[in-house]
Amino acid sequence: KTIYQKGLQFERPLFSFQTSKWESEAEQRMSAESKGYIIGNAGTGETARKNREAFAKWSIVPRRLVKTSGLPHLGMKVFGKEFPFPIATAPVGVQRIFNPEGELATAAAAAKESVPYIVHLQARLEEGILTEELYRMSTASSTSIEDVAKANKEDGVRWYQLYWPSNDHNEITASLLSRAKKAGFSALFITLDTYILGWRPSDMDNGYNPFLRSDKIGVAIGFSDPIFRSHFKAKHGVEIEEDVHTAAAEWTRIVFPGVSHGWEDIEFLKKHWDGPIVLKGIQTVADAEKCVELGLQGIVVSNHGGRQVDGGVSSLGVLPRIVDAVGDKLDVFFDSGIRAGADIAKAMALGAKMCLIGRPFIYGLVMGGEEGAQHVLKSLLGDLELTLHLAGIQSARPEHLNRSLLEREDR
Ligand code: FNR
Repeated sequence: KTIYQKGLQFERPLFSFQTSKWESEAEQRMSAESKGYIIGNAGTGETARKNREAFAKWSIVPRRLVKTSGLPHLGMKVFGKEFPFPIATAPVGVQRIFNPEGELATAAAAAKESVPYIVHLQARLEEGILTEELYRMSTASSTSIEDVAKANKEDGVRWYQLYWPSNDHNEITASLLSRAKKAGFSALFITLDTYILGWRPSDMDNGYNPFLRSDKIGVAIGFSDPIFRSHFKAKHGVEIEEDVHTAAAEWTRIVFPGVSHGWEDIEFLKKHWDGPIVLKGIQTVADAEKCVELGLQGIVVSNHGGRQVDGGVSSLGVLPRIVDAVGDKLDVFFDSGIRAGADIAKAMALGAKMCLIGRPFIYGLVMGGEEGAQHVLKSLLGDLELTLHLAGIQSARPEHLNRSLLEREDR
């Protein structure tokens, strides 16, 4: 409500309230490489297109004369706990290429908006600034698990996303998990769809790969891990600082091993993590049912924003089937294609408990650091609140917000 009123009172924000303009506005501020990386999709971009098109197939049918005492209540429960808003920030890697403040800015923005923050594993140093001084700053972990936690504040809700090291490096996985736990990360998200990066032509055209271009990058979080440090020393006979490029390549090989884990490996994670475990990247009922069988607390129905498999199903398209199969047995999160309040309303009406905001909040980071990311989160929530209110929906809870809100346009 506040942001809407501010908008009407001509208190100018850093950039537009028009969610559909964020991408083009942010594009003008980015280098070709950063632009290619964030906008870049797998292959022809078909999956990413379908992600967006899927939202237009469902339309909101407003109801009239629903008497309410005020604006809808947006709170909901995940992991058995109450959260004020049904969104979290999606894990997005290497945020410092978008703004030098990177993760520290987005983590602070999320805390200020009471939105859970999911941090990814890697952080990259800006190209060309891999100088001695900045490098030391990063190994002193300017975006380490611990520093992100600090920016997110004591009471910020933070969840940890892991790119899962291969089984021959279980001791590194265990170390990362115990550090995350100590830094107050309460839930663990394991991304399953990226054991190798997808075919991303825009990055290849730019000769750019944020993880694999070891001649240009430093991978700060990995570098600050004590177990990785001793592994590297034992294998290469030098400290990381003496050969950062080999270290970056080594780290990349460990977290993107090129082969997938199997379902039996989930046991290891359960042993080393005592909070909720959520598998990210689920697109089929069969896989979702497997998660229930294994006693996991949640899934993210996601296709990584269409960045991994080209020609794939739309994430919203598979959501209702998955919710029907497992929605009452674990928490179903959703991402891939959310760009406006109405999109969040639709995904929730189809049964998602919480939506992850991916590219839009990074556009906010590009446009204005912490304040920009806050503007995006605020705008999406303001938009959602008014959309639900005007549709006659009293709260984001399933008893009010459910499929009766929607009609399929193509039937
Ligand atoms: C991502 N995503 C991602 N996911 C993840 O689990 N770990 C990561 O490090 C990253 N990194 C990343 C970088 C960039 C630049 C983007 C755009 C995305 C995927 C992300 O969490 C989410 O699934 C998608 O962004 C959702 O799609 P949309 O809504 O952004 O299109």
